[in-house]
Amino acid sequence: MASTQALINRQWILAKRPEGAVKPTDFIFNKGELPVPGDGDVLVRSLYFGYDASQRIWLTEDGGYMPSIQIGESMRAVGIGQVIESCDPDYATGDLVEGFMSWQDYLIVRNDGPMPLRKLPKANFPLSWNLGIFGVGGLTAYFGVVDGLRVQPGDTVVISAATGATGSLAGAIARALGAQKVIGIAGGADKCQWIVDNAGYDAAIDYKNEDIGERLQELCPQGVNAYFDNVGGDMLDTLLLHMAPEGRVLICGAMSSGYTDVKLQGPSNYMRICTHKLTVRGMHLFFYKDEIPAAAAQLAAWVEEGKLHVEENIHEGFEKAPGLLPTIFSGKQPGKLILKVANAS
Ligand SMILES: NC(=O)c1ccc[n+]([C@@H]2O[C@H](COP(=O)([O-])OP(=O)(O)OC[C@H]3O[C@@H](n4cnc5c(N)ncnc54)[C@H](OP(=O)(O)O)[C@@H]3O)[C@@H](O)[C@H]2O)c1
Repeated sequence: MASTQALINRQWILAKRPEGAVKPTDFIFNKGELPVPGDGDVLVRSLYFGYDASQRIWLTEDGGYMPSIQIGESMRAVGIGQVIESCDPDYATGDLVEGFMSWQDYLIVRNDGPMPLRKLPKANFPLSWNLGIFGVGGLTAYFGVVDGLRVQPGDTVVISAATGATGSLAGAIARALGAQKVIGIAGGADKCQWIVDNAGYDAAIDYKNEDIGERLQELCPQGVNAYFDNVGGDMLDTLLLHMAPEGRVLICGAMSSGYTDVKLQGPSNYMRICTHKLTVRGMHLFFYKDEIPAAAAQLAAWVEEGKLHVEENIHEGFEKAPGLLPTIFSGKQPGKLILKVANAS
């Protein structure tokens, strides 16, 4: 290993708190010092950064379910890195790990955060899959469909943000559990075609060009048994009007809000929960951290059986980190958005 003293630590630092949609100019490039690990710390070199809508929540003054990112700090991201030096006996130099990182070449990570710092096994799939199908999106899809919605054989299931890292897997997972009909909601004809051709959906609704209520009436006249809500807002309100009696709704995300604030307006059709005996559940991946290995094994088995299609949208180059973030909210391509910044040694 080269002397760490000689290495430059490129960083993208939060320069100002975004107003409205996040912009690349909210960040500034910096050449920082290499951090020195203390007790329990692991010094990691960044290899891949994943992109998640919740990064926008962490940029609010409140921060939501994580501490707010402060001006002058490097931008937090879920990433994959390689251990350079370890002061935690559970990690060794050379290990590949996945967990909360930030937009810099070298950083300290620890295993005492809200999610485990996962040591990645040598595997016969690409390393980047640990951010997608075996990362936030895939695991959220798995726990959301299996536990949150408890999809049953015969169910009619609707999933919003169906081309996203989560939605691009949730439809096929619902199908693997025996759902009778799986309908995805996506923006634009091409994305609607993509989910039907690639992601296990029977039909798609184009939320940008079609009337969602009318299409739901056509596609599921008996009502929706399970709705995986990644979008909130008007879309959730419309879905509430189309749920079957005793239907289940999973609140997973609220893309329509842009996550510019933690305070959101709830649905106005909520009395449907009462009149149709609906069950509305929330989920957060943090709740399932102890069940991740078993979930990842099941996801791997489904991939092996050809039941899940893995879609990645990989870019390369540290300099691109801030420019990709806004695309999460403005029409990114299907699948998990990932930035590769270095090769593993
Ligand atoms: N609860 C949890 O633990 C947890 C974990 C992971 C993710 N999530 C949530 O799951 C949701 C999806 O995240 P992801 O990582 O799967 O997606 P992603 O890969 O970041 O892609 C974003 C998705 O959102 C859709 N979208 C963006 N703006 C929209 C709008 N105004 N109306 C409708 N759809 C919109 C995009 O579809 P189009 O291109 O078709 O617009 C795209 O499919 C987010 O709300 C996220 O916060 C929750």
